[in-house]
Amino acid sequence: MDARKMTDQVSLLGFVDWDARLFDSLIPLPDGTSYNAYLIKGSEKTVLIDSVEQEFGSELLAQLGDNLKLDYIVSLHAEQDHSGAIPVLLAKYPKAKLVTNPKGKELLMDLLEIDETRFMTVQDGEILSLGDKTLEFIYTPWVHWPETMSLYLKEDKILFSCDFFGSHIATTDVYVTDEGRVYEAAKRYYAEIMMPFRAIIVKNIEKLLTREIAMIAPSHGPVFQNPDFIIDAYKDWISSPPQNKVVIPFISMHGSTKLMVDYLVKSLVNKGVSVVQYNLAITDIGKLAIDLVDAGTIVVGTPTVLAGPHPIAAYGTLLANALKPKAKFISIIGSYSWGGKTVEMLASMIPNLKVEVLTPVIAKGLPREKDYAALEQLATDIANKHKELGFK
Ligand code: FEO
Repeated sequence: MDARKMTDQVSLLGFVDWDARLFDSLIPLPDGTSYNAYLIKGSEKTVLIDSVEQEFGSELLAQLGDNLKLDYIVSLHAEQDHSGAIPVLLAKYPKAKLVTNPKGKELLMDLLEIDETRFMTVQDGEILSLGDKTLEFIYTPWVHWPETMSLYLKEDKILFSCDFFGSHIATTDVYVTDEGRVYEAAKRYYAEIMMPFRAIIVKNIEKLLTREIAMIAPSHGPVFQNPDFIIDAYKDWISSPPQNKVVIPFISMHGSTKLMVDYLVKSLVNKGVSVVQYNLAITDIGKLAIDLVDAGTIVVGTPTVLAGPHPIAAYGTLLANALKPKAKFISIIGSYSWGGKTVEMLASMIPNLKVEVLTPVIAKGLPREKDYAALEQLATDIANKHKELGFK
């Protein structure tokens, strides 16, 4: 695809990856993704913001053409989906400076072996003039690496935010056309990449909002002409209380744990609690991550296998621990045949979660009357605790 114009002097370049289905060898991408780069032609200088995965570098070079005088390549984030093509760009434009912050420089030298002489480092708030266009560098650390920063084009009030506010969507549209679709994709992206850094994201948003922003141009997915849409969504995901909702990631081998999950779901629903259950054997973990954004309680369901939790349940638990959702309660349900340390092992896997652990329910073999009574009590406890904390 050729470069797509946003204004007379600003264009969207990069690569739309319709076939991508897994990101970071972890995150499912049902809608593909894009790696956005932006070209700004000032009256005196020309700058390219970010690049693409190394394997798509030739696309980006073709978009830039053969007669461009490129003065600066800005790297807002050193991760390879945006920096991978920088070495070929530097080779094609030997006079261009690679502009980043000191932490970004260190990372790019480590990850891509870029020669130190090619760099120009900038500080927070520093200005880069392109003649009739002015760029301001704004440090926005931990969205989602330590070096991440944004770039503000003052005259056009465009914020180039890199991963921040991004969404994994392959589209030929420059701008958001279907907010519902982008909302889900952006929430998936937030859940898997940004959620662990909630506290610092709040500060970064406050910092960015001291500027007037007409447009947000991220490095994945379409550009936001209505910045409030995505900023308000982020504020809600980060700062609103958890919802009156239980997420149950589970796995069952011979049906006992599934019987317990089914009972707990029914009991919670009867008590007015929303429930989302995910069979980890078949689930899209991105969907699970989306529901972890605002769940009040997590209940992990697992049989005991080889004296511990089923490895897939352990994976789901470790993922929840890594994503640091704002849930306030957690519990474990499941069954065993002859013993083991399932509860202790799962409990040791969630040091990041600031949760109260509600009494687990572990049945020997098929769940019986006393196990169903314990599940009923667990549902009552969850419903009451959600009510006490005012979860809606
Ligand atoms: Fe899109 Fe953190 O890379």
